[in-house]
Amino acid sequence: MAGINGDERAIYIKDMFARIAHRYDVMNRVMTAGQDVHWRREVIRRAELPPGGFLLDLGAGTGDLAREALRQCSSCRSAAVDFTIQMMRVGQSRPDRPHSESSRLDWIAADAGCLPFHDQVFDAVVSGFLLRNVGDVLTCIYEQYRVLKPGGMIVVLDTTPPGWSIFSPLVKFHLRFLIPILGSALTGQSDAYRYLPASTQAFLEPEQLAYRVMYAGFNDVGFRRMMFETVAIHWGRKPVH
Ligand SMILES: C[S@@+](CC[C@H](N)C(=O)[O-])C[C@H]1O[C@@H](n2cnc3c(N)ncnc32)[C@H](O)[C@@H]1O
Repeated sequence: MAGINGDERAIYIKDMFARIAHRYDVMNRVMTAGQDVHWRREVIRRAELPPGGFLLDLGAGTGDLAREALRQCSSCRSAAVDFTIQMMRVGQSRPDRPHSESSRLDWIAADAGCLPFHDQVFDAVVSGFLLRNVGDVLTCIYEQYRVLKPGGMIVVLDTTPPGWSIFSPLVKFHLRFLIPILGSALTGQSDAYRYLPASTQAFLEPEQLAYRVMYAGFNDVGFRRMMFETVAIHWGRKPVH
């Protein structure tokens, strides 16, 4: 994967997520010891959706963030956008879908770097574990800025290169050994779960990502690191003027 860019990178990533789609949700819960559920709640709280608001979940995968928005706001709608059809199919066929979901959740196949929406359509834009996969992070943030209404929030959940702490040996063991072994056992696709630690290590430091969010034009930018500093939530507000 190292050194692959552009279309080749996108093809590799689509193929990888297509192969793990059927066990993606289980693997998420196991890898994070169930913590991802709490992070997603926080992401949607920070999105500050108004009643009747419209949320974009970018790189939605099986749609956990889009669904969490519907759970927290009963009058809101979500658009779940992803370029891997197989991930969205798994999300669409979940047995635990509430009855009211289908009228409030749209599934759209698109690339996060070139969105098929007019300007200023959404009240909030969120993403979970997307940005570390895209070829050009800044272009992707610009697109999110474009489709957001003035005053709307961008909220980003992603892994970050782990900093040094007394837990570093444990974190390294988890990332380098435990995740690939678990991934291989649960999905049969060990390469995908070697890609996760490799792309985490190669991704932006939280300060660098915050800088890009600011550079794209957002105000009130902040972030919070979690899970032994291996995961962060970033946020920012699109200025009203
Ligand atoms: C790690 S999964 C995250 C899924 C979900 N957001 C979550 O929180 O569990 C990353 C998702 O981003 C999608 N993705 C990666 N690059 C993309 C791009 N350029 N455009 C659209 N989707 C993309 C992948 O297909 C995959 O479903």
